[in-house]
Order: sequence, then C-alpha cells, then structure tokens
Amino acid sequence: MGVSDRGEDWNWTKNDGAGPPPEIDITKPSIARVYDFFLDGKDNFAVDREIGEMTLRIVPDAKEAGRASRRFLQRVVHHLAAEEGIRQFIDLGSGLPTQGNVHEVAQRVDPSARVVYVDNDPIVLTHGRALLATNDTTTVIQADIRDPEAIYANATLRRFIDFSEPVGLLMFSILHHLHDDEDPWGIADRLREPLAPGSFLAMANFFDAQDEHPESSKQAETMEKVFNEHLGTGRWRTREELMRFVGDFELLEPGLVPLADWRPEPGESWERSATYYTFSGAVARKP
Ligand SMILES: C[S@@+](CC[C@H](N)C(=O)[O-])C[C@H]1O[C@@H](n2cnc3c(N)ncnc32)[C@H](O)[C@@H]1O
Repeated sequence: MGVSDRGEDWNWTKNDGAGPPPEIDITKPSIARVYDFFLDGKDNFAVDREIGEMTLRIVPDAKEAGRASRRFLQRVVHHLAAEEGIRQFIDLGSGLPTQGNVHEVAQRVDPSARVVYVDNDPIVLTHGRALLATNDTTTVIQADIRDPEAIYANATLRRFIDFSEPVGLLMFSILHHLHDDEDPWGIADRLREPLAPGSFLAMANFFDAQDEHPESSKQAETMEKVFNEHLGTGRWRTREELMRFVGDFELLEPGLVPLADWRPEPGESWERSATYYTFSGAVARKP
C-alpha cells in the first residue's frame, strides 16, 4: 500500500502559508495535541498549550512523565517484537507521530512487522499519512475505541492484521480518556476477546496509587479535576480498576508498575517524585 499524496498537507504546521485543514478545530484543546505539547512537539496550538502550561504549574515534572511514557512504549514494543515474536500491532489512541514510534521500534526488529495506528482525532490521520508514504507495512485509520467491533471490522485494518495470529494490542494513555460511564472495562473485554492465544495487551494509564503513595494520590486527585474541567477527560484509576482491563490475560513481570519500573534499560534513571507514581503500565499475555 502506498500513498501518492505524500506531503500534500503534512507540512501545514511548519507554515507553508496554508492554515490547518477545516476538520482540525483549533478553538478547542485536543488530547493528541496537548500530549504533543508535553513531548515538546510542534503540532499544538495556543488552546492546547494553555492546558499544558496550567498542568506544569501544578506538576512541574509533567514533561518528564511524558518522556517516561514514551520510553515505556518503546521498551514494551521492542520486548514484544524481539522476545515474544509479535509481528502485528494495533496501536489504539496512537497520537501524533513523534520520536520512536511503534512501527519504527517493531520494524527495527523485523522490517516486515505490521502496525495499524488507530485514533479518533483527524490531526493524527493527517500527519499519519507521512508515515504511509515511506512504509508499506504501516497504516493509520481514524476510528473510535468506544466501538471495538468497527475497528476490528475496518477493511484497511484487516488487510494488515491476521486475527488467526497473535497480535500486540497497544493501549498507551488512551483508556484514562474514557469516562467510567463509557464502560472502558466492557470495551477492553471486547477488544481482548477476538485475539488469538499468545496475543498481548499492553497499557499505560494514569494511576491513583492510594495508600501505596498518598502524596501521589493527592496529586492525582488535583490533576483529575484540572483535566476534567479544561479537557473534559482524564481518570486516575486505582490498581484494582486498572487490573480489570487485563481480564484473564496473564501479567508479565514485573506486573502493574510505574512506567519507568517496567524493565528499564541499563543507564535509565528517573526521579521518584510524586508524579512518578501517578502513571503505571503493564503487559499481559492471552493464555
Ligand atoms: C495521550 S495520547 C497517547 C498517544 C500515544 N498512545 C502515547 O502513549 O504516546 C491519547 C490519544 O488517544 C486518542 N483518543 C482519545 N480518545 C479516543 C477515542 N475515543 N478513540 C480513539 N482515540 C482516542 C487521542 O486523540 C490521542 O491521540
């Protein structure tokens, strides 16, 4: 699969004179673009930066948390590709392309590894086209995680993903953007269920450490208020709530831990601040 319109709209933020395409609303903050701010990306607007700056005033090391989160993603994808033999990945809530994207990590292990990026924000699709231009094994679709059946039935996705083989189902910083009344647990069940045995689920989520780290728990409570007031989303969930996303999949060591504690590489070190314990991740295998 190739893309002929390479570059057509890719550079609009780099200022070629044309504004953003009409489907991109720059009057309201977008989760993908606020996250891009925390990663020091260039694809965010004033309305996104406002929330970012507000967060930094409360949590000065929030960008550190963003970096820890990307490092977690890279270690997990490398592990799945290099150690577990996973050759097809579905990255839900993939966000804007940045350094060390899933396809880059997986395809360093095996250039034929396939990756489908899924996001509901049109800006991700717009920018994702640049990935397609250079990579026949990588695609991006616009879809909503709240409709798992539509995602799995998507014709483009099905050209890349063979459901009779194990899949790496990636849910990095996406489930905490679903409200409890949207039933993220039921959605996770429906996403896990059709996968072949030997598939993996990997997730990173805002975490309310409760008694494990009371200071972090307090910070989580404050952040939850700020995010919901200004972005309309963001849930810091407890260990018990997060473990329900895993269902009957078997957790890999070291379990559900702060992102930086998941199999860090030699030389990686992160400051164990209150923020450190407000973000946790896990990887689990379908028996
Ligand atoms: C915080 S970013 C995470 C990006 C990337 N997964 C990472 O961890 O670096 C969350 C992404 O989820 C997307 N998202 C939020 N709600 C979604 C939904 N209901 N369906 C699909 N994507 C969604 C946002 O557009 C955003 O790009």
